[in-house]
Amino acid sequence: MTSVATAISLSARPGGATSTCSPDLAKGPWEFDAGEALRGAPAYGPGASSGDHAPSSTPRQGQLPQEYKDATEAELHERITAAKEKLGNRVVVMGHFYQRDEVVQHADFVGDSFQLANAALTRPDAEAIVFCGVHFMAETADILSREDQAVILPNLAAGCSMADMADIDSVEQAWAQLEDLFGTEPDADGRVPVIPVTYMNSSAALKGFCGEHGGIVCTSSNAGTVLEWAFERAQRVLFFPDQHLGRNTAKAMGVPLEQMPMWSPRKPLGGNDAATLQDSRVILWHGFCSVHKRFNVAQIEKARAEYPGVRVIVHPECPMEVVDAADEFGSTDYIRKAIAAATEPTVFAIGTEVNLVNRLGAQYPQHTVFCLDPVICPCSTMYRIHPGYLAWVLEGLVEGEVRNRIEVPPAVATTARVALERMLAARP
Ligand code: 13P
Ligand code: SF4
Repeated sequence: MTSVATAISLSARPGGATSTCSPDLAKGPWEFDAGEALRGAPAYGPGASSGDHAPSSTPRQGQLPQEYKDATEAELHERITAAKEKLGNRVVVMGHFYQRDEVVQHADFVGDSFQLANAALTRPDAEAIVFCGVHFMAETADILSREDQAVILPNLAAGCSMADMADIDSVEQAWAQLEDLFGTEPDADGRVPVIPVTYMNSSAALKGFCGEHGGIVCTSSNAGTVLEWAFERAQRVLFFPDQHLGRNTAKAMGVPLEQMPMWSPRKPLGGNDAATLQDSRVILWHGFCSVHKRFNVAQIEKARAEYPGVRVIVHPECPMEVVDAADEFGSTDYIRKAIAAATEPTVFAIGTEVNLVNRLGAQYPQHTVFCLDPVICPCSTMYRIHPGYLAWVLEGLVEGEVRNRIEVPPAVATTARVALERMLAARP
């Protein structure tokens, strides 16, 4: 099976057999770290989130030493393996499902963001947690891990463009307007007017905001349970940053679309009138994932025409009409389990990040598994965790140097932990 990285470099050559959303993807991520510094306008680099603007507060990755840029895939593999062997139980490597295969093969835990948050709790003995994922995941691991454990993000420029669509200032402004409108008094059933719910894909500051205001965190694998938790305590929910996860989850619970107004952060009352907000159940922040926005109904229709009986499963970050046209929707782990559980050879058309889809196809050769999007377009920020960076941080640990540590300030971590622990305790 060809890895996504190899497929990209093949297709970037003239006459290559497949197409990518950007031939620039064949370059090393360090080319863009340098490019951003020169241009002065940070963006997320080539790939599905390339058009998204990175806030100026986004950490910049310093230049990777040349030896790691020049090393072949095989050399990096050997160096990572050797460093991990030397470090033994002192280090634990986490890998999100969307990481490239060259990284995933070195991970001690591979999973979705909920599983990896739990996994961080299981290794209090490790001195360092190397998080091969994106910035908000490393922050979450830091919040949940012991104070003396170092959480390391191999490339500091691995952010999440969706997480950056809601910032603490805009959320605080929205909250002040909602409190003015609704007041803070509970109704006769003891439910407060509004509770904030943040998707795991958000900064630690927003998780802290939820902790402070009676709110909670959710992931794509527990969003329904978390919304039920919130509705038991509040008349309505302010859900950020992903409008699609919020809408798809609430719709599946029977909330009518008219009761899910969108909050546009730069407009008074988020662009709504007071009556609409009064009547709302879920106020959806205007955020989205550029990777999942690529999926559309025409792709599903084409898959059904070409493969009668195909099972179409999409991630809840996809737009509502895509989720409606699919057979099922669920988190990355839901998708993995659905394919693993199929007893008869089945054709699966999947709407999520291509690294995971291709890996599932290789793991379950009895099935046909393909990505609904015919273009190879990985999440460009996940893709920044190149094996060169992983080798660099691990060899740093061998030499006694902690590189790229992610540390959430204690005041934020305390309240963010409250919101995360509410999530970990919430049960269906
Ligand atoms: P999961 O919560 O399914 O791991 O998804 C995280 C993510 O970033 C999806 O785009
Ligand atoms: Fe963020 Fe989308 Fe990438 Fe997930 S796939 S990390 S939501 S940009």
